[in-house]
Amino acid sequence: MTRGDGERQSAPAGHLPALHVPVLYTQVMEGLQVKEDGTYLDGTFGRGGHARGVLQRLGPGGRLLVMDKDPDAIAHAERTFAGDARVSIFRGSFASLAQWDDTAAGLDGVLLDLGVSSPQLDVAERGFSFGKDGPLDMRMDPQSGESAADWIARADEREIADVLWTYGEEKQSRRIARAIVARRATQPFTRTADLAAAIASVMPRGEKIHPATRSFQAIRIHINRELSDLEVGLDAALARLKVGGRLAVISFHSLEDRIVKQFINKHAKAPPANRRFPVAVDFVPTLRAIGSGQKGEADEVSANPRARSAVLRVAEKLGIGSGESEFATAGSGMGADSSPAAASASRIPNPDSPLPASTRGTA
Ligand SMILES: C[S@@+](CC[C@H](N)C(=O)[O-])C[C@H]1O[C@@H](n2cnc3c(N)ncnc32)[C@H](O)[C@@H]1O
Repeated sequence: MTRGDGERQSAPAGHLPALHVPVLYTQVMEGLQVKEDGTYLDGTFGRGGHARGVLQRLGPGGRLLVMDKDPDAIAHAERTFAGDARVSIFRGSFASLAQWDDTAAGLDGVLLDLGVSSPQLDVAERGFSFGKDGPLDMRMDPQSGESAADWIARADEREIADVLWTYGEEKQSRRIARAIVARRATQPFTRTADLAAAIASVMPRGEKIHPATRSFQAIRIHINRELSDLEVGLDAALARLKVGGRLAVISFHSLEDRIVKQFINKHAKAPPANRRFPVAVDFVPTLRAIGSGQKGEADEVSANPRARSAVLRVAEKLGIGSGESEFATAGSGMGADSSPAAASASRIPNPDSPLPASTRGTA
């Protein structure tokens, strides 16, 4: 697994939180191909670096819909765009984007810039950072779900090891889980520095990165249900995209990128024939991949460490034949696509069906 952004500390302790510098900005704008009168959804507003770029390209008839799980990001969006009638704001996971009425008329573009923002990492109180001591929280939405401290207090040794292995590819997962469970028997973990020190104490020496890097990333992914949100969100985005609409997703580690790549391939390419389905199926693609995964140029990577592991994938929603102008509506089911293309495509058994929706929204 490539390292994610969640582990880098971009501002030294005691300094003001760094602003979030949007990654792959030019490539995202090129990928989205913003139309003046289009409707665009930024599902991961953060501090609005990409959203502002979209807004600058919209005319008076265009619309920008922004979402974020994080109340601080939403407060920032409200301050930034107060009074701009083109902008609507929804606090919640992009997994629930199809349940937001404002998306019902269809979208010309959806952007997901995954992971955490620099302000989330830089504010110790958010509890994401092993480098800055704070309450062990790690929730993007601190008012919802279980904190890292609560999970670490209740999960059994096996579950902790599995999370560290699955979401962090941490080779010492069992050893770390054993140490966590032994230590919490006498004193619960409530602080990030305390957990980081307990992890470091059982790790072999000599790694270039902080010994708690992979474990913190794994716990964060688990606590925030990042991968299941992504799977559900991609389906919902496809359902709401108009024909010709663009999907742009920036990933920061290989687990995310694999999901995005497989999603695009599943909708763009006919499945290879195999022994179970030897006859050709009438596959109708619903997406067209625009190029392959794009990485930052050397100057961006050296100026912005977050860009080092970023990969952008872009795809366009297809219609069937000429004159196709209907976008697919999400219907009642999360992520359901009622387009003819999808109806045809859905005859093909799908071995990669997404995890059950675990959505919530606090519009
Ligand atoms: C990398 S930052 C986005 C930065 C943004 N593009 C910018 O230019 O400022 C990721 C943001 O997405 C939010 N986020 C992550 N997963 C989310 C999800 N499933 N639904 C909504 N927001 C999410 C995080 O809270 C964070 O604010």
